[in-house]
Amino acid sequence: MTILVTGAAGFIGSNFVMEWFDSKDENIISLDKLTYAGNLENLSSLSKDKRHFFIKGDIGDSELISSILSEYNPRAIINFAAESHVDRSISTPENFIQTNILGTFKLLQSTLMYWKDLEKNDKKDFRFIHISTDEVYGDLKAESSKFTEENRYIPNSPYSASKASSDHLVRAWYHTYKLPVITTNCSNNYGSFQFPEKLIPLGIINAINDKQIPLYGDGLQVRDWLYVKDHCEAIRVVLENGAIGQTYNIGGNNEKTNIEVVELICKLLDDIQPRTDNVSHSRQISFVKDRQGHDRRYAIDSSKIYKELNWKPKENFDSGMKKTIKWYLENNKWVKNIINGNYKKWIDKHYS
Ligand code: NAD
Ligand code: TYD
Repeated sequence: MTILVTGAAGFIGSNFVMEWFDSKDENIISLDKLTYAGNLENLSSLSKDKRHFFIKGDIGDSELISSILSEYNPRAIINFAAESHVDRSISTPENFIQTNILGTFKLLQSTLMYWKDLEKNDKKDFRFIHISTDEVYGDLKAESSKFTEENRYIPNSPYSASKASSDHLVRAWYHTYKLPVITTNCSNNYGSFQFPEKLIPLGIINAINDKQIPLYGDGLQVRDWLYVKDHCEAIRVVLENGAIGQTYNIGGNNEKTNIEVVELICKLLDDIQPRTDNVSHSRQISFVKDRQGHDRRYAIDSSKIYKELNWKPKENFDSGMKKTIKWYLENNKWVKNIINGNYKKWIDKHYS
């Protein structure tokens, strides 16, 4: 048996593919367009694994997707492929509309054509898992309850609006055509292989390279941090036991302000790799201009997936951050290769 994973060379997709083979012996076809965020080095540990096969391609390329589906006959598709960075969606929204909305539409159509022709049992067992975000629910007040699956969609950024659109399409393909879909909405992930444009890898890498650690606005925005391996486990649970047509919120139960996040990074680094002058890394924290339309708070109520599928995160923020920092310190070559490429241009433009 085989599953197809899209966006497999990105942060969460690559962690998912690697984690899969730790617990399963089922083949994976990985598909990725290899945009600036896709990095084949993320999957290099699988280069000799016969259970894994990589294809460079776009989820919006219907001809390619149809030929992959008919050749490999996957029993499931896990769709991670997306443009994922809010700041980029503000400066260049077009790619987000192209991939997150039109690409998801094309992928759904190709999947529907494939699924319709499957034999009865394969048709019944097939799943399309769509990976989405808590950002579709909009901005939470400090005193408001966490997001449940019943919250209204109120996306505020071009990124979250494009993901909300994709979620609506996925829902409609279930409701109208009965395509067996499940959508997951997770909170902010962190861990190994995250592209250093997002707060945590950027903070770690800038801290160890004696650069400023930029905090937007007052730094009091709140995110609910989910360790990526916990997220990958939740997706496997949803694939095997989730109910068709449902959505599941997946959170880390770790609400932190951005200041708390970067201060923890600095404190842990002060112990593991102190600065040569013995001053705390926190002196590198620097308040910069706020993001336009910056959402103040996101927080996930994971009680549905806990009650119905018996999943909860294993990692707390302290233990997850220790593992994450250790990974970035031990994988300096991975970091350097990124900094020498597109990321450098992005970072020069925005933070020099
Ligand atoms: P990422 O940006 O690291 O990876 C996305 C991957 O998709 C990249 O490898 C990229 O090359 C690929 N891709 C982009 N456009 C494509 C296309 N048209 N066809 C095929 N591949 C394409 O993102 P991530 O952090 O790994 O996020 C994965 C998914 O999880 C996304 O859908 C994102 O919206 C969602 N999500 C992420 C987070 C988070 O904190 N990272 C939180 C909630 C939800
Ligand atoms: P990010 O990692 O980009 O994820 P998202 O925008 O999807 O939540 O940002 C996390 C939080 O950190 C968000 O409130 C924006 C803030 N942030 C900074 O303060 N400085 C930075 O350099 C970055 C990249 C983000």
